[in-house]
Amino acid sequence: MVDLSAYLKPRQELMNRYLAERVPAEAPPAGLLFEAMNYSLCAGGKRLRPVLVLAAWEACRGVLQYAPTELLPKYPPAVLAAACALEMIHTYSLIHDDLPAMDDDDLRRGKATCHKAYDEATAILAGDALLTEAFNILATSSTDNAQALLEVIADIAKASGAQGMAGGQVLDLQAEGRTISADELETLHRYKTGCLLQVSCVVGAKLAGATTAQLEALSIYGQNIGLAFQIADDILDVEGGTEELGKTAGADAAHDKNTYPSLLGLEASKQKEHALIEEAIETLAGFGAAGEPLQAIASYIIARKS
Ligand code: IPE
Ligand code: IPE
Ligand code: MG
Ligand code: MG
Ligand code: MG
Repeated sequence: MVDLSAYLKPRQELMNRYLAERVPAEAPPAGLLFEAMNYSLCAGGKRLRPVLVLAAWEACRGVLQYAPTELLPKYPPAVLAAACALEMIHTYSLIHDDLPAMDDDDLRRGKATCHKAYDEATAILAGDALLTEAFNILATSSTDNAQALLEVIADIAKASGAQGMAGGQVLDLQAEGRTISADELETLHRYKTGCLLQVSCVVGAKLAGATTAQLEALSIYGQNIGLAFQIADDILDVEGGTEELGKTAGADAAHDKNTYPSLLGLEASKQKEHALIEEAIETLAGFGAAGEPLQAIASYIIARKS
């Protein structure tokens, strides 16, 4: 059995150090922009997307996480760059998601949202710069497999853009104030949240030189945890408290959002997320003990309280 918190902690700390180095709080030519980028990026967060990159890479490389779990494997630079880029893109999506024109939220990661701490123009530009800088970090990473890195860059671009997260965010906003079907909601959730989580698993696998079977398994795993993650987010918005979440509870109902609880009810939503996680865990069978951290992460996705 993997001790998940012992597994997560050193990886989260590694990412926190790497992110703070790559996006310092002060740099030219516009100190204010770096300050705002660093403010949101280093405000905390679970670092789930980068951890998935690392865990998928480890699973494909057969890294075993027996004690002592605090010992980290030596990750290649491109793996760290991809993990960092995904957290930067995720943070940009949160900054923009919170803007008055989108979900209009004041609280994120337990702090004032970027546009509240600074202003809307700075928040928009901090998001833009995090997204763009993420691709700079990827494209300039050293690697001994340029072809795999190029594929990873394309995968991350697709998962973030019009046929990924950004597309899903538009579907989310278009559905506000009207009721959509359960199928439409599933599609929306898969795009706005699922794509980035799935691609995190896929790029970790690709950078590890995964076999076709490993890549396929991690892609299905990522798809299932991706949808389950947003269902859990919807449930937490109903059942969680603002302090614990670090963001405003009850915001979905206040914005007349379509969510799993609002369309299917809490019970059916919980059944759905459990079924997805069970399926995700089953797809890891071929990894043996090296897949145990990914199993534990899948269970955590629906057990978490924030
Ligand atoms: C929140 O993501 C936004 C969604 C995609 C639901 P996380 O719950 O991963 O947020 P952080 O990174 O931990 O703050
Ligand atoms: C956001 O979904 C998904 C993103 C792409 C950021 P939500 O709007 O439900 O995320 P929270 O609840 O504000 O974190
Ligand atoms: Mg939103
Ligand atoms: Mg939101
Ligand atoms: Mg939410």
